[in-house]
Amino acid sequence: MRKVGIIGVGEYLPKRVLTNADLEKMVDTSDEWITTRTGIKERRLASAEEATSDLALNAAKAALKDARLSAEDLDLIIVATITPDMPFPSVASILQNALGAKNAACCDISAACAGFVYALATASQFIACGTYKNALVIGAEKLSSVTDWKDRNTCVLFGDGAGACVLGEVKSGGIIASYLGCDGSNLGLLNLPAGGSRNPASLQTVEARLHYIKMQGNELFKIAVRTMTEAAEKVLKQAGLKFSDIDLIIPHQANSRIIMAVAKRLGLTEDKIFLNIEKYGNMSSASTATALVEAVKEGRIKKGDTVLLDSFGAGLVWGAAVIQW
Ligand code: UT7
Repeated sequence: MRKVGIIGVGEYLPKRVLTNADLEKMVDTSDEWITTRTGIKERRLASAEEATSDLALNAAKAALKDARLSAEDLDLIIVATITPDMPFPSVASILQNALGAKNAACCDISAACAGFVYALATASQFIACGTYKNALVIGAEKLSSVTDWKDRNTCVLFGDGAGACVLGEVKSGGIIASYLGCDGSNLGLLNLPAGGSRNPASLQTVEARLHYIKMQGNELFKIAVRTMTEAAEKVLKQAGLKFSDIDLIIPHQANSRIIMAVAKRLGLTEDKIFLNIEKYGNMSSASTATALVEAVKEGRIKKGDTVLLDSFGAGLVWGAAVIQW
Protein backbone atom coordinates (compact mmCIF):
# COMPACT_ATOMS: atom_id res chain seq x y z
CA MET A 1 0.00 0.00 0.00
CA ARG A 2 1.18 3.54 -0.79
CA LYS A 3 1.47 6.19 1.91
CA VAL A 4 -1.10 8.97 1.41
CA GLY A 5 -0.72 12.50 2.71
CA ILE A 6 -2.09 16.02 2.37
CA ILE A 7 -0.03 17.82 -0.28
CA GLY A 8 -2.00 21.06 -0.55
CA VAL A 9 -4.60 23.00 1.48
CA GLY A 10 -6.97 25.91 0.83
CA GLU A 11 -10.03 27.55 2.33
CA TYR A 12 -12.71 30.07 1.51
CA LEU A 13 -14.82 32.03 3.94
CA PRO A 14 -17.51 34.38 2.63
CA LYS A 15 -16.89 38.08 3.31
CA ARG A 16 -20.06 38.94 5.24
CA VAL A 17 -19.60 38.75 9.02
CA LEU A 18 -22.61 38.26 11.33
CA THR A 19 -21.67 39.11 14.92
CA ASN A 20 -23.41 38.15 18.16
CA ALA A 21 -24.43 41.82 18.42
CA ASP A 22 -26.18 41.49 15.03
CA LEU A 23 -28.03 38.41 16.31
CA GLU A 24 -29.19 40.32 19.40
CA LYS A 25 -31.25 42.44 16.98
CA MET A 26 -32.78 39.37 15.30
CA VAL A 27 -33.76 37.01 18.17
CA ASP A 28 -34.01 37.06 21.98
CA THR A 29 -30.35 36.33 22.73
CA SER A 30 -27.19 38.02 24.00
CA ASP A 31 -23.51 38.08 23.19
CA GLU A 32 -22.90 36.90 26.77
CA TRP A 33 -25.14 33.80 26.34
CA ILE A 34 -23.70 32.82 22.98
CA THR A 35 -20.08 33.37 24.05
CA THR A 36 -20.27 31.50 27.34
CA ARG A 37 -22.45 28.62 26.05
CA THR A 38 -20.72 28.07 22.70
CA GLY A 39 -17.47 30.05 22.32
CA ILE A 40 -18.81 31.69 19.13
CA LYS A 41 -18.34 35.45 18.60
CA GLU A 42 -19.14 35.74 14.89
CA ARG A 43 -19.79 33.67 11.78
CA ARG A 44 -19.57 34.16 8.00
CA LEU A 45 -22.58 34.20 5.69
CA ALA A 46 -22.51 33.52 1.97
CA SER A 47 -24.27 35.99 -0.31
CA ALA A 48 -27.53 35.18 -2.10
CA GLU A 49 -25.52 34.57 -5.29
CA GLU A 50 -23.06 32.14 -3.63
CA ALA A 51 -24.04 28.46 -3.47
CA THR A 52 -22.05 25.70 -1.77
CA SER A 53 -20.21 24.87 -5.02
CA ASP A 54 -19.00 28.48 -5.25
CA LEU A 55 -17.50 28.27 -1.75
CA ALA A 56 -15.99 24.88 -2.67
CA LEU A 57 -14.56 26.26 -5.92
CA ASN A 58 -12.61 29.02 -4.18
CA ALA A 59 -11.22 26.60 -1.57
CA ALA A 60 -10.35 24.06 -4.29
CA LYS A 61 -8.43 26.62 -6.38
CA ALA A 62 -6.39 27.62 -3.31
CA ALA A 63 -5.62 23.98 -2.44
CA LEU A 64 -4.56 23.14 -6.01
CA LYS A 65 -2.28 26.20 -6.09
CA ASP A 66 -0.76 25.15 -2.76
CA ALA A 67 -0.20 21.60 -4.12
CA ARG A 68 1.25 23.03 -7.37
CA LEU A 69 -1.15 20.87 -9.38
CA SER A 70 -3.58 21.71 -12.15
CA ALA A 71 -7.24 20.69 -12.12
CA GLU A 72 -6.50 18.13 -14.86
CA ASP A 73 -4.12 16.31 -12.48
CA LEU A 74 -7.07 15.31 -10.28
CA ASP A 75 -8.37 11.73 -10.52
CA LEU A 76 -11.06 12.07 -7.86
CA ILE A 77 -13.13 14.83 -6.24
CA ILE A 78 -15.18 14.16 -3.11
CA VAL A 79 -17.22 16.97 -1.57
CA ALA A 80 -18.58 16.45 1.93
CA THR A 81 -21.74 18.51 2.34
CA ILE A 82 -25.29 18.50 3.72
CA THR A 83 -26.17 21.71 1.87
CA PRO A 84 -25.64 20.83 -1.80
CA ASP A 85 -26.60 23.38 -4.46
CA MET A 86 -29.56 21.05 -5.25
CA PRO A 87 -30.46 17.40 -4.47
CA PHE A 88 -28.68 16.34 -7.66
CA PRO A 89 -26.33 16.55 -9.49
CA SER A 90 -23.63 16.51 -6.84
CA VAL A 91 -21.62 19.54 -5.79
CA ALA A 92 -18.55 17.56 -6.89
CA SER A 93 -19.92 17.33 -10.47
CA ILE A 94 -20.67 21.06 -10.53
CA LEU A 95 -17.20 21.73 -9.18
CA GLN A 96 -15.52 19.44 -11.72
CA ASN A 97 -17.01 21.51 -14.52
CA ALA A 98 -16.13 24.83 -12.89
CA LEU A 99 -12.54 23.74 -12.25
CA GLY A 100 -12.06 21.98 -15.59
CA ALA A 101 -11.02 18.79 -13.75
CA LYS A 102 -12.09 16.64 -16.69
CA ASN A 103 -10.16 13.52 -15.58
CA ALA A 104 -11.74 13.28 -12.13
CA ALA A 105 -14.43 10.90 -10.91
CA CYS A 106 -16.82 12.86 -8.68
CA CYS A 107 -19.30 12.34 -5.87
CA ASP A 108 -20.58 13.95 -2.67
CA ILE A 109 -20.57 12.37 0.78
CA SER A 110 -23.37 13.07 3.24
CA ALA A 111 -21.98 12.54 6.72
CA ALA A 112 -22.84 15.91 8.28
CA CYS A 113 -20.14 17.31 10.58
CA ALA A 114 -18.03 14.16 10.19
CA GLY A 115 -18.25 14.47 6.39
CA PHE A 116 -14.77 15.86 5.84
CA VAL A 117 -13.11 13.00 7.77
CA TYR A 118 -15.35 10.48 5.96
CA ALA A 119 -14.29 11.99 2.62
CA LEU A 120 -10.62 12.05 3.61
CA ALA A 121 -10.68 8.39 4.69
CA THR A 122 -12.57 7.34 1.54
CA ALA A 123 -10.41 9.21 -0.96
CA SER A 124 -7.17 8.07 0.67
CA GLN A 125 -8.06 4.39 0.08
CA PHE A 126 -8.06 4.94 -3.71
CA ILE A 127 -4.58 6.44 -3.60
CA ALA A 128 -3.26 3.90 -1.07
CA CYS A 129 -4.20 0.98 -3.30
CA GLY A 130 -2.92 2.64 -6.46
CA THR A 131 -6.22 3.26 -8.28
CA TYR A 132 -5.73 7.05 -8.31
CA LYS A 133 -2.78 9.42 -7.94
CA ASN A 134 -4.34 12.72 -6.81
CA ALA A 135 -7.63 13.43 -5.04
CA LEU A 136 -9.37 16.62 -3.95
CA VAL A 137 -11.36 16.43 -0.72
CA ILE A 138 -13.56 19.33 0.38
CA GLY A 139 -15.85 20.16 3.28
CA ALA A 140 -18.22 22.89 2.05
CA GLU A 141 -21.46 24.20 3.52
CA LYS A 142 -23.94 27.03 3.15
CA LEU A 143 -25.72 26.30 6.43
CA SER A 144 -27.29 29.77 6.39
CA SER A 145 -29.62 28.42 3.67
CA VAL A 146 -31.13 25.85 6.08
CA THR A 147 -30.94 27.89 9.30
CA ASP A 148 -34.18 29.08 10.88
CA TRP A 149 -33.37 32.71 11.59
CA LYS A 150 -36.37 32.89 13.96
CA ASP A 151 -35.13 30.02 16.19
CA ARG A 152 -32.66 31.26 18.80
CA ASN A 153 -31.83 27.67 19.79
CA THR A 154 -30.09 27.07 16.47
CA CYS A 155 -29.55 30.29 14.49
CA VAL A 156 -26.73 31.52 16.74
CA LEU A 157 -24.68 28.39 16.04
CA PHE A 158 -24.09 28.03 12.32
CA GLY A 159 -22.04 29.61 9.53
CA ASP A 160 -20.87 29.13 5.94
CA GLY A 161 -17.46 28.19 4.52
CA ALA A 162 -15.27 25.64 2.77
CA GLY A 163 -11.95 23.90 3.38
CA ALA A 164 -10.09 21.76 0.84
CA CYS A 165 -7.18 19.32 0.80
CA VAL A 166 -5.34 17.72 -2.09
CA LEU A 167 -4.27 14.15 -1.32
CA GLY A 168 -1.35 12.40 -2.98
CA GLU A 169 1.39 9.88 -2.37
CA VAL A 170 4.01 10.84 0.24
CA LYS A 171 7.34 9.23 1.14
CA SER A 172 6.70 8.97 4.88
CA GLY A 173 3.92 9.57 7.42
CA GLY A 174 0.62 10.75 5.92
CA ILE A 175 -2.77 9.47 7.03
CA ILE A 176 -1.71 6.60 9.27
CA ALA A 177 -5.14 5.67 10.71
CA SER A 178 -8.80 6.52 10.32
CA TYR A 179 -11.85 5.41 12.27
CA LEU A 180 -15.43 6.03 11.10
CA GLY A 181 -18.67 5.13 12.85
CA CYS A 182 -22.44 5.63 13.00
CA ASP A 183 -25.33 5.12 15.42
CA GLY A 184 -28.53 5.55 13.42
CA SER A 185 -30.80 5.17 16.45
CA ASN A 186 -30.83 8.89 17.33
CA LEU A 187 -31.89 10.47 14.05
CA GLY A 188 -34.28 12.94 15.70
CA LEU A 189 -31.62 14.75 17.71
CA LEU A 190 -30.37 16.65 14.67
CA ASN A 191 -32.02 16.69 11.27
CA LEU A 192 -33.72 18.64 8.50
CA PRO A 193 -37.16 17.02 8.27
CA ALA A 194 -38.48 18.02 4.84
CA GLY A 195 -37.39 18.38 1.23
CA GLY A 196 -36.51 14.72 0.69
CA SER A 197 -38.57 11.70 -0.42
CA ARG A 198 -40.13 11.25 3.07
CA ASN A 199 -41.59 14.77 3.23
CA PRO A 200 -41.32 16.34 -0.24
CA ALA A 201 -41.53 20.12 -0.32
CA SER A 202 -45.11 21.37 -0.10
CA LEU A 203 -46.95 24.44 1.11
CA GLN A 204 -47.51 22.62 4.43
CA THR A 205 -43.84 21.75 4.95
CA VAL A 206 -42.83 25.32 4.24
CA GLU A 207 -45.49 26.74 6.57
CA ALA A 208 -44.39 24.32 9.31
CA ARG A 209 -40.77 25.50 8.85
CA LEU A 210 -39.64 21.92 8.20
CA HIS A 211 -36.92 22.96 5.74
CA TYR A 212 -34.68 24.16 8.56
CA ILE A 213 -32.24 22.43 10.91
CA LYS A 214 -33.93 20.98 14.04
CA MET A 215 -31.71 20.16 16.98
CA GLN A 216 -32.00 18.90 20.57
CA GLY A 217 -28.73 20.49 21.59
CA ASN A 218 -28.65 19.49 25.22
CA GLU A 219 -28.95 15.74 24.58
CA LEU A 220 -26.55 15.93 21.65
CA PHE A 221 -23.96 17.70 23.79
CA LYS A 222 -23.52 14.71 26.12
CA ILE A 223 -23.34 12.20 23.27
CA ALA A 224 -20.84 14.41 21.41
CA VAL A 225 -18.44 14.50 24.37
CA ARG A 226 -18.63 10.72 24.90
CA THR A 227 -18.41 9.82 21.21
CA MET A 228 -15.57 12.17 20.28
CA THR A 229 -13.57 10.90 23.26
CA GLU A 230 -14.10 7.26 22.22
CA ALA A 231 -13.34 7.96 18.55
CA ALA A 232 -10.05 9.64 19.49
CA GLU A 233 -9.08 6.72 21.72
CA LYS A 234 -9.91 4.14 19.05
CA VAL A 235 -8.07 5.81 16.19
CA LEU A 236 -5.02 6.38 18.33
CA LYS A 237 -4.95 2.73 19.36
CA GLN A 238 -5.24 1.79 15.69
CA ALA A 239 -2.27 4.06 14.92
CA GLY A 240 -0.26 2.45 17.74
CA LEU A 241 0.25 5.84 19.43
CA LYS A 242 -0.33 7.46 22.83
CA PHE A 243 -1.99 10.83 23.49
CA SER A 244 1.40 12.20 24.49
CA ASP A 245 2.46 11.59 20.85
CA ILE A 246 -0.18 14.04 19.55
CA ASP A 247 1.07 17.56 18.74
CA LEU A 248 -2.31 19.04 17.81
CA ILE A 249 -5.95 17.93 17.93
CA ILE A 250 -8.27 19.43 15.33
CA PRO A 251 -11.80 18.79 16.55
CA HIS A 252 -15.13 19.53 14.91
CA GLN A 253 -16.07 23.05 16.01
CA ALA A 254 -19.64 22.69 17.33
CA ASN A 255 -19.12 24.10 20.80
CA SER A 256 -15.94 25.09 22.66
CA ARG A 257 -17.33 23.50 25.85
CA ILE A 258 -17.65 20.14 24.03
CA ILE A 259 -14.08 20.48 22.76
CA MET A 260 -12.68 21.35 26.20
CA ALA A 261 -14.59 18.46 27.84
CA VAL A 262 -13.18 16.01 25.26
CA ALA A 263 -9.65 17.40 25.68
CA LYS A 264 -9.92 17.08 29.47
CA ARG A 265 -11.01 13.44 29.22
CA LEU A 266 -8.11 12.72 26.86
CA GLY A 267 -5.61 14.50 29.10
CA LEU A 268 -4.71 17.06 26.41
CA THR A 269 -3.63 20.55 27.43
CA GLU A 270 -5.11 23.69 25.82
CA ASP A 271 -1.99 24.37 23.72
CA LYS A 272 -2.68 21.12 21.86
CA ILE A 273 -6.20 22.13 20.76
CA PHE A 274 -6.96 24.06 17.59
CA LEU A 275 -10.02 26.32 17.72
CA ASN A 276 -11.56 28.57 15.07
CA ILE A 277 -15.17 28.39 16.34
CA GLU A 278 -14.92 31.95 17.69
CA LYS A 279 -14.64 33.33 14.12
CA TYR A 280 -16.87 30.95 12.17
CA GLY A 281 -19.31 29.04 14.41
CA ASN A 282 -20.30 25.52 13.41
CA MET A 283 -19.90 24.98 9.64
CA SER A 284 -20.61 21.22 9.72
CA SER A 285 -18.23 19.44 7.30
CA ALA A 286 -16.38 22.71 6.63
CA SER A 287 -15.43 23.12 10.30
CA THR A 288 -12.83 20.36 10.61
CA ALA A 289 -11.67 21.14 7.06
CA THR A 290 -11.02 24.87 7.62
CA ALA A 291 -9.55 24.21 11.06
CA LEU A 292 -7.00 21.86 9.47
CA VAL A 293 -6.22 24.35 6.71
CA GLU A 294 -5.79 27.25 9.16
CA ALA A 295 -3.62 25.17 11.51
CA VAL A 296 -1.27 24.54 8.58
CA LYS A 297 -1.32 28.15 7.36
CA GLU A 298 -0.73 29.53 10.87
CA GLY A 299 2.28 27.26 11.39
CA ARG A 300 0.58 25.31 14.19
CA ILE A 301 1.37 22.12 12.21
CA LYS A 302 5.03 21.63 11.34
CA LYS A 303 6.93 18.96 9.43
CA GLY A 304 7.05 15.79 11.54
CA ASP A 305 4.01 16.73 13.71
CA THR A 306 1.29 14.21 14.51
CA VAL A 307 -2.24 15.58 14.17
CA LEU A 308 -5.53 14.09 15.35
CA LEU A 309 -8.80 14.97 13.58
CA ASP A 310 -11.95 14.24 15.61
CA SER A 311 -15.48 14.94 14.39
CA PHE A 312 -19.10 14.18 15.26
CA GLY A 313 -22.51 15.08 13.84
CA ALA A 314 -26.02 14.26 12.60
CA GLY A 315 -26.64 10.62 11.81
CA LEU A 316 -25.25 10.26 14.38
CA VAL A 317 -21.85 9.83 12.75
CA TRP A 318 -18.29 10.26 13.83
CA GLY A 319 -14.88 10.17 12.20
CA ALA A 320 -11.34 10.46 13.51
CA ALA A 321 -7.99 10.31 11.74
CA VAL A 322 -4.30 10.48 12.64
CA ILE A 323 -2.03 12.30 10.19
CA GLN A 324 1.75 12.59 10.38
CA TRP A 325 2.94 15.70 8.61
O1 UT7 B 1 -22.40 19.84 15.00
C1 UT7 B 1 -23.11 18.70 15.31
C2 UT7 B 1 -23.17 18.42 16.73
N1 UT7 B 1 -23.75 19.53 17.45
C3 UT7 B 1 -23.64 19.55 18.74
O2 UT7 B 1 -23.03 18.66 19.29
C4 UT7 B 1 -24.30 20.66 19.49
C5 UT7 B 1 -24.41 20.27 20.92
N2 UT7 B 1 -25.15 21.20 21.76
C6 UT7 B 1 -24.74 22.41 22.14
O3 UT7 B 1 -23.74 22.91 21.67
C7 UT7 B 1 -25.53 23.10 23.22
O4 UT7 B 1 -26.48 22.20 23.74
C8 UT7 B 1 -26.25 24.40 22.77
C9 UT7 B 1 -25.23 25.51 22.55
C10 UT7 B 1 -27.02 24.15 21.51
C11 UT7 B 1 -27.20 24.88 23.87
O5 UT7 B 1 -26.51 25.07 25.08
P1 UT7 B 1 -27.08 24.43 26.44
O6 UT7 B 1 -26.16 24.86 27.51
O7 UT7 B 1 -27.21 22.96 26.20
O8 UT7 B 1 -28.46 25.16 26.59
P2 UT7 B 1 -29.91 24.54 26.66
O9 UT7 B 1 -30.34 24.01 25.35
O10 UT7 B 1 -29.97 23.58 27.84
O11 UT7 B 1 -30.76 25.81 27.01
C12 UT7 B 1 -30.58 26.50 28.22
C13 UT7 B 1 -31.46 27.75 28.23
C14 UT7 B 1 -32.90 27.46 27.83
O12 UT7 B 1 -33.74 28.29 28.63
P3 UT7 B 1 -34.55 27.67 29.85
O13 UT7 B 1 -35.42 26.60 29.24
O14 UT7 B 1 -33.52 27.11 30.78
O15 UT7 B 1 -35.30 28.84 30.39
C15 UT7 B 1 -32.96 27.93 26.39
O16 UT7 B 1 -34.26 28.35 26.02
O17 UT7 B 1 -30.96 28.70 27.28
C16 UT7 B 1 -32.03 29.12 26.43
N3 UT7 B 1 -31.48 29.45 25.12
C17 UT7 B 1 -31.02 30.67 24.81
N4 UT7 B 1 -30.93 31.81 25.51
C18 UT7 B 1 -30.37 32.88 24.91
C19 UT7 B 1 -31.34 28.63 24.04
N5 UT7 B 1 -30.78 29.32 23.03
C20 UT7 B 1 -30.57 30.58 23.48
C21 UT7 B 1 -30.01 31.74 22.90
N6 UT7 B 1 -29.93 32.85 23.65
N7 UT7 B 1 -29.54 31.75 21.63
